[in-house]
Amino acid sequence: MDSFKITGNRNLSGTIEVSGAKNAILPVMAACLLAPGKSVLRNVPNLIDLKTMSHLLRIIGARVEHVGSTMTIDASDICYIEAPYELVSQMRASIYVLGPLVARLKEARVSFPGGCAIGTRPVDLHLKALEALGVDIAIDHGYIHAKASKLKGAEIYFEKSSVGATINTLMAAVLAEGQTRLLNAAMEPEVDSTIDLLNKMGAKIEGKGSTTLTIQGVENLFPVEMTMIADRIEAGTFLIAGALSTSPVTVANCNPLHLGSALEKLREAGCELLVGESEITVHPPKIIKPFSLITLPYPGFPTDLQAQFMVLATLAEGMSFLEDTIFPDRFMHVAELNRLQADIRLNRNIATVKGVAKLSGAEVMATDLRASAALVLAGCVAEGETIVSRIYHIDRGYDRIEEKLNSIGARITRING
Ligand code: EPZ
Repeated sequence: MDSFKITGNRNLSGTIEVSGAKNAILPVMAACLLAPGKSVLRNVPNLIDLKTMSHLLRIIGARVEHVGSTMTIDASDICYIEAPYELVSQMRASIYVLGPLVARLKEARVSFPGGCAIGTRPVDLHLKALEALGVDIAIDHGYIHAKASKLKGAEIYFEKSSVGATINTLMAAVLAEGQTRLLNAAMEPEVDSTIDLLNKMGAKIEGKGSTTLTIQGVENLFPVEMTMIADRIEAGTFLIAGALSTSPVTVANCNPLHLGSALEKLREAGCELLVGESEITVHPPKIIKPFSLITLPYPGFPTDLQAQFMVLATLAEGMSFLEDTIFPDRFMHVAELNRLQADIRLNRNIATVKGVAKLSGAEVMATDLRASAALVLAGCVAEGETIVSRIYHIDRGYDRIEEKLNSIGARITRING
């Protein structure tokens, strides 16, 4: 397994570019199953998770090509209804094929997704919503077996705001007979971009940007071309690199409108921000101010930036408090950051971070995607050398992160393990 050798250097400066959003592209790739023909997606980065989803779509019978940052998906001849354990166990987002397969082929067998390092990750809201649309769900031998003679529109209330359940249900409802209303739907930008794609395909979805979505079912959908939105979590990760630096850093090719709560938190920590149309320049504070944050559904503070902001808190002057209400167990990075001599205490889902003057390099281990991004950020500003092992996790969601951070002065070497 590869690892990163990082030599600390707090003076990062220059411009760093953001790629297309992993969490917008994964559902859109699955949505392409709904339309016979060739769809074209642009601004698609080279990520392990996208390779896994491509492999799954090919198993289902789609033809997928990814050349440069353009991906084509031809779903004319899809025929196989199964998402096998070995793929679903690698990537929970494989569950996104459930809605489209049931909508187009009226049957699906998807391995029951397990948990991961950040929590148990249930899918009960997905299954309940599909049942409301007339899908028969049976669980046997670790597989979700979904069958429907016909999908009928329904009114569905989500007890919890769920990105995945909202999107999976949308992808089934677009081909259901009649009207479907989703109440307490998630509002993340990745939900909006999936709605944009589906409407471009000929679906009739109203209410984008609100928690109430209304879908009029249609007979058929058609292949489309679309450019993927920028990755707000990658952008936020790089903004933290700037906030930890001693010089300004500009994050380019991003959408500041998707980062409202994170920008507010950076200001609270003492950063000055210059916000343009598609770029943000962060002027780091001389002294990082402590802050409190609580993760919430969009437009609240994103759980996917909790670990990265914790690195900023480790060097603040005072006590910071970080609470994760979305994934209460999402704190695998705490023990590893403390190995770098941070001072973090964890009590259930609240981390108390006492700022220290500096972090000092050590060997640490990546456990999940965003925790590993946090460890790389910490290594970039720790004194001395840090080795981050198991960086497979980071390659799942960041395209060549070491090249991007080195372009602003980081000193990261990938060591093939
Ligand atoms: C998506 O996961 C993202 N993944 C996650 O990003 C992100 O952290 C999460 O949304 C929250 O924003 C992708 O888009 C591929 P949820 P998802 O359903 O859809 C509970 C990353 O780092 N829940 O919005 O799985 C769940 O346990 C990843 O890129 C149920 O109880 O998240 C959580 O507490 C990590 N039952 C809350 O809802 C369900 O059926 C929100 O989860 C589904 C979810």
